[in-house]
Amino acid sequence: MPETRLAVEFVCLGNICRSPLGEGIFRHRVAQAGLTHRFEIASAGTGGWHVGEPPDPRSVAVARRHGVDIAGQRGRQLDWAHLDHYDEILAMDESNLRNIRRFERSGQRARLGLLLDELPDRRLGEVPDPYYGTDRDFESVFALVDAACAALLERLRTRL
Ligand code: 4NP
Repeated sequence: MPETRLAVEFVCLGNICRSPLGEGIFRHRVAQAGLTHRFEIASAGTGGWHVGEPPDPRSVAVARRHGVDIAGQRGRQLDWAHLDHYDEILAMDESNLRNIRRFERSGQRARLGLLLDELPDRRLGEVPDPYYGTDRDFESVFALVDAACAALLERLRTRL
C-alpha cells in the first residue's frame, strides 16, 4: 500500500499576512512531528495583488520571533484547480471562505473549512485581517493560527 499523502492549503485575501503564517507554522509543526514526507503544504490568496511577492515583513518578523522561517514564500492566487488538488483548504475568515466556495463544484477533492473551526472554542470564528494593524495584531494572529494548526495536525494525522 502506498503511503497516504495529504495536500493542505491555507487561504486568506492577499496571501501576504495570514495564510503565509498558516503555511509556515503548519510546515514547522509537521516537521517537528517527523511527518514532512506525508504532507504537501501551500497557501494562496483569493486576490491576486501580491502574486510573486514575499510575505509582509511583519508576518516574516513575528514568525521569526517564534522560530518559523517564512521569508522564502511567494504570493500565489487561488484558482478553481486548487479545489481538485488539495485535500483540505482552510480559510482565515468567512469572506475568504465565501470566495473559495465560488469555485465549488460537485465531485471536487477539497474539503473547505474555516481554520479556526479546528479549535474547540468555536466562538473565535475568524482570524482577523492584520494588514492595517500593529505588531500586537500580528502576535495575536500568530497565536490563533498556531493553536489551530496544532489542532489541524492532530485531526489529519488520524487519516494518514
Ligand atoms: P492577508 O492580508 O489577507 O492576511 O494577506 C491582506 C493583505 C493585503 C491586502 C489585504 C489583506 N490588500 O488589500 O492588499
